Amino acid sequence: MKQANIRNFSIIAHIDHGKSTLADRIMEQTHTVSERDTKAQLLDDMAVEQAHGITVKSRTVRNHYEADDGQTYEYNFIDTPGHVDFSYEVSKSLAASDGAILLVDATQGVQAQTVANLRLAQQNHLVIIPVINKVDSDAADVPRTEAQIQKLDPAFENLEMLKISAKTGMGVHEVLEAIRTTIPAPTGDKTAPLKALVFDYMYDAFKGIIAYVRLIDGSIKADDALLLMAEQTKVSANSLGYFAPNMTPIGELNAGDVGYVITGLKDPQLVRVGDTMTAVANPTTEPLAGYEPAKSMVFAGFYPKDNNYNELKLAIEKLSLNDSSFHYSLENSEALGAGFRCGFLGMLHLQIIRERLQDEYGLEVLTTAPNVTYHVHLNGQTEPMIVNNPINFPEFSKIEYVEEPFVKAEITTPNELLSDVMKLAEKHKSTLLDMDNQADLIVLTYKMPTSEVAYEFFNQLKSVSHGYATLDTTALDYEVADLVKVEVDINYATVDALSFVVHRQDADKLTQELVKKLKVAVPRRLYPTPVQAVVEGKAVARVDIPPLRKNAAVSGGKKSISKKQALLRRQGVNKRQSAKNSIDLPQAVFNAVLELD
Ligand code: GTP
Repeated sequence: MKQANIRNFSIIAHIDHGKSTLADRIMEQTHTVSERDTKAQLLDDMAVEQAHGITVKSRTVRNHYEADDGQTYEYNFIDTPGHVDFSYEVSKSLAASDGAILLVDATQGVQAQTVANLRLAQQNHLVIIPVINKVDSDAADVPRTEAQIQKLDPAFENLEMLKISAKTGMGVHEVLEAIRTTIPAPTGDKTAPLKALVFDYMYDAFKGIIAYVRLIDGSIKADDALLLMAEQTKVSANSLGYFAPNMTPIGELNAGDVGYVITGLKDPQLVRVGDTMTAVANPTTEPLAGYEPAKSMVFAGFYPKDNNYNELKLAIEKLSLNDSSFHYSLENSEALGAGFRCGFLGMLHLQIIRERLQDEYGLEVLTTAPNVTYHVHLNGQTEPMIVNNPINFPEFSKIEYVEEPFVKAEITTPNELLSDVMKLAEKHKSTLLDMDNQADLIVLTYKMPTSEVAYEFFNQLKSVSHGYATLDTTALDYEVADLVKVEVDINYATVDALSFVVHRQDADKLTQELVKKLKVAVPRRLYPTPVQAVVEGKAVARVDIPPLRKNAAVSGGKKSISKKQALLRRQGVNKRQSAKNSIDLPQAVFNAVLELD
């Protein structure tokens, strides 16, 4: 395909505004897939994606479009995820595009993620086509949506906007035409040294690492010797091709093309998203500006439930290859044995990984309470200790002070929900930095501890705003905070995997709430089991779990002496066992910590 007839674009939108539906219509109208195939929403083929109804992993698809001008065009479109936990993937997709369709649901109007994604697209200097979707719906308010979009960018002010129904296909042809007439063709030089952006990669057990590339200059042919510039890794182009939407091999990729390269490489450490791929024979001198690697915001321990450590290890390894923003390392707990410390972009990401382990590998895991990374300054030390596991949080007498990470949280909300949203933010230790209007929405900018935002905040925001307010976060620096570690003792032995770190001011309320929950969650035994929460060496909350049966020592008057003695002996044995903490803890016990408000 000659370069002038190529268009590389993304579809960006707020969650549920119809990206996947529009992508399906585009593939249908360009005959990339048949109508019957799209029924199953081809792009969202992962089981978790279907369960949550969201797109998790970006996909690129090549379509051939026979345009009204009689020519055939190559349309490479790059689907992007909509949730804030995945904005990292959005920016990767945008860097590989020349233009973007900004899709806005006419029943909801401009939402926070519309604004945030538009900003990302503008930062990448993309040409943007605003499109109003769901005009078929009775709830659609097209004039209001159009007015809101016009306020977003001076370039939209006098624009006649496309109005479509991705559901029925109405107006989709006009979108296809606008892509051709508005978005520029790529401009790279096919004869220059190879310069390709690796904007994502996937791991295949047989083929090894498959790099998703956008060629800026040069070309790649099968069997070419290639160089990944960040780590100076040499790979061979075992095979190359494009997605349509399945993998379709071809002999050559040229400047402007989007496609994949099967490298055969087995070690994911050697591939970086944002890396530049060049040719060994005639390398480029200037690598492309890459991206920052994805940083984990939330950490939690994953432990095997059914003694299947090795199976879990394999599954976690595979998932991390498949999802470059999911990190893990090995960890050990006295209570639970060998497990994994996992890093996630946010709580939704954690939940999705858990579900993928279940759906794709049939594995259930015990999950410990989430936490962020702390900088713990010890007495007499200059460098802080970096702690992302409460088990390793040092004893309080050794600590001089602790710092925790903060984020800038931008909340976009309709005006009528402003006071509810502000109350919620206040509850989460926020400081208001700025307040602004965008279209008919209010944008609140807060500084908040990452830990306050990372866990339940997003769900609570959705709930107080009935889904109308949205959240976008950017990492800020570390600041001093008054934090304490809470340890949980069951029958006077600390269960290390239940430890967590909280703000001192919340410790009282949270530990009371916790022991109440543990009273129900900890399995009962033959004798009363004391459960206590300990802060800085002092028990601050306690419950006694009642015994399973009446205690032989104080009841069972009708039983013979020998039966009583046998019962007492059994209880004695159990007591010794639990002192070593050989108790089996169900997920419900960990949920008591996970669900603390
Ligand atoms: P994420 O990938 O989760 O961000 O969602 P998305 O933006 O891809 O949205 P999706 O295509 O899954 O559509 C969300 C919902 O809106 C689905 O129930 C669609 O059937 C519905 N929908 C999409 N387009 C239209 C439309 O033009 N009209 C109507 N009435 N409904 C639509």
